[in-house]
Order: sequence, then structure tokens, then C-alpha cells
Amino acid sequence: MKPYIFITRKLPDEAVSALKEKYEVNMWNSEEKLVPRDILLQEAAKADALLTMLSEKVDEELLSVSKNLKVVANLAVGFDNIDVEAASAHGVAICNTPDVLTDSTADLTFALLMAAARRLVEAAEFVKEGKWKSWTPLLLAGQDIHHKTIGIVGMGSIGSAVAKRAKGFDMNVIYHNRSRKMDVENELGAVYSSFDDLVLTSDFIVCLTPLTEETRNLFTREVFKKMKKTAVFINASRGPVVNEQDLYLALKEGEIAAAGLDVFEKEPIDENHPLLQLSNVVALPHIGSASIETRMGMMKLCVDNIDAILSEKEPLTLVNKDWTLTR
Ligand code: GLV
Ligand code: GLV
Repeated sequence: MKPYIFITRKLPDEAVSALKEKYEVNMWNSEEKLVPRDILLQEAAKADALLTMLSEKVDEELLSVSKNLKVVANLAVGFDNIDVEAASAHGVAICNTPDVLTDSTADLTFALLMAAARRLVEAAEFVKEGKWKSWTPLLLAGQDIHHKTIGIVGMGSIGSAVAKRAKGFDMNVIYHNRSRKMDVENELGAVYSSFDDLVLTSDFIVCLTPLTEETRNLFTREVFKKMKKTAVFINASRGPVVNEQDLYLALKEGEIAAAGLDVFEKEPIDENHPLLQLSNVVALPHIGSASIETRMGMMKLCVDNIDAILSEKEPLTLVNKDWTLTR
């Protein structure tokens, strides 16, 4: 019997054709609608491999019913939807999609920074809504970007790529990370900072840290209060790193100037969410890596990881380095 692969969202046929030649592949029938949990569990119970989205929870419950499962390839660099320790305990390899999305995600993060600073979305809507009646000296005037200080929280590959873009804008780059990153310090002149100093001195605070127990609820009202009144806050990592109620109050009370958000505590965010009622919030639907080239590259990497593990070869981008094939 051919190994069985379940893909939790409808992907373009060309993206999965390589798998179909060798394996039995079943794909959920919608691009938008989530696979219901009970169907996911039934499929997982049969599957040798799963190709998942960040919206699917891969937890102890799922892993314990998945007797044949060898690999979960998650179409994202982040893997906070997956209980990695439990996966290792069950002998299931977890693969993600780092590197292929680094530059695209950095581009979008910087675009979000620019949009929030220079009020691009507000300004574009202003024109389309027929509100532009005259050229006015301070019409939609925002914050300068060039020569300002950018504070990057989470200096991984995406953080480094954002730092590189910031250098092109003559920005002063500071960062906070669990460990020092000598390559970005040496190559880009980025300066390591404590979290508190970064928050106090940055004009742009850019959050790119993974969601972990340490980073959950990292940005609270207390932190926003320490920021400059002109500060622009950008989040392109995971929603729960930020306390959204606190961010809302900080923006509403003028404690910071603006926010650019690609991620939210609950996705999709409800259109009536208080944050979306503020004109100084630029909100995007979690599209950090969403260029056609990059999303196709991420799908290919998931496919290659699954194929490698099912053919007993080394996976390309393994998350749980302690994983060994035991089933
Ligand atoms: C997207 O958020 C990802 O983790 O790739
Ligand atoms: C603006 O367009 C200017 O000419 O200053």
C-alpha cells in the first residue's frame, strides 16, 4: 500500500503533483474553509504524513490517534500551533518553512512599517473617498522613517533581513534577542539592547519574535507607556505576543502614534474589533510571506520534506532535531 498523505487545505495541483506520482494524496476541498477538527482527526489516524497550515492544532490528542504518522510539514516558519515535544515523544518529525520566506516577509514587514509611519492606507482611502479638496501643508503628515531608530525584537533571519532594509533607509538599528547576533552587529552595525532600553529609545518597534511561553503577552500597557509618544509599533510575528486591549488603549490615549499589524490574537480578526476602528492602525490579514513565488516555494519545501521522510532520507528543515524515525 502506498503511504497516505493528507493536506489540510486545497493547494494548487502543480504544487502537489510530485507527491501524487508516488503517494496516495488527499487534499481538503477548500482554500478558505478550515478542515473541521473531527475530519482532521480521522484523516490523521490514517495518515503517514500531514501537510498542515498554521490554523491546525497538532497536539497530543491528534498525535496519539495518528498511529502511522511520520511527519507533519507545516506551511509556515512559525510552529506554535504544534506541540513539538509531544511530536518527538510520538516519533513524529516536524518540518517548517524557514529561509524561503525570509526576504518576502522582511519586505512586507518593512512595507507595513512604511505604511503605518506615512499613513499610506489612510491617505489612499482619503483620495478614493473623494475627500481630497486641496493641498494642505500638514495633510496626512506622518512620521519620518529615514535616520530614525528601529528596535527589532527577535533577531532571527527575518529580523536580520529587516535590519538590512532599515540600513538602506539610513536608520539606526538596535535589537533585542535571547542571544547576541554577532553577524548582524558586524555586518550591519546593529546594536544589542535590553528590552527596556529598546522600548524607551526606538522610534519604530518591530516585533518578529516567535510565540513561546516567554514571549506571550510581552507587549502590555506598561510597555507601551514606556514608548515614545511618536513611536510606531509593528507586529509581524504572532498576535498573542501583544496584549491587544492594551495596544488599543495605548493608541487611543495617544501613548504611541500608530501601529501596523499583520497578526492578531484571534485570526481572522472580527471587523468590529476595537483596533480596527482606529485610523492610526494599519491591519493586514497575516500576509507576511504571501508573494506567489514564496508561497509556491513554501509548498515545495513541505512537499520535499514529506517525500524525504517517507523515502527515509534526511528532511531539509527539521524542527525537532531530537527526532528519530521509530515508526
Ligand atoms: C507565518 O506567519 C509563518 O510563520 O510562516
Ligand atoms: C510636494 O509635492 C512638494 O513639491 O513639496
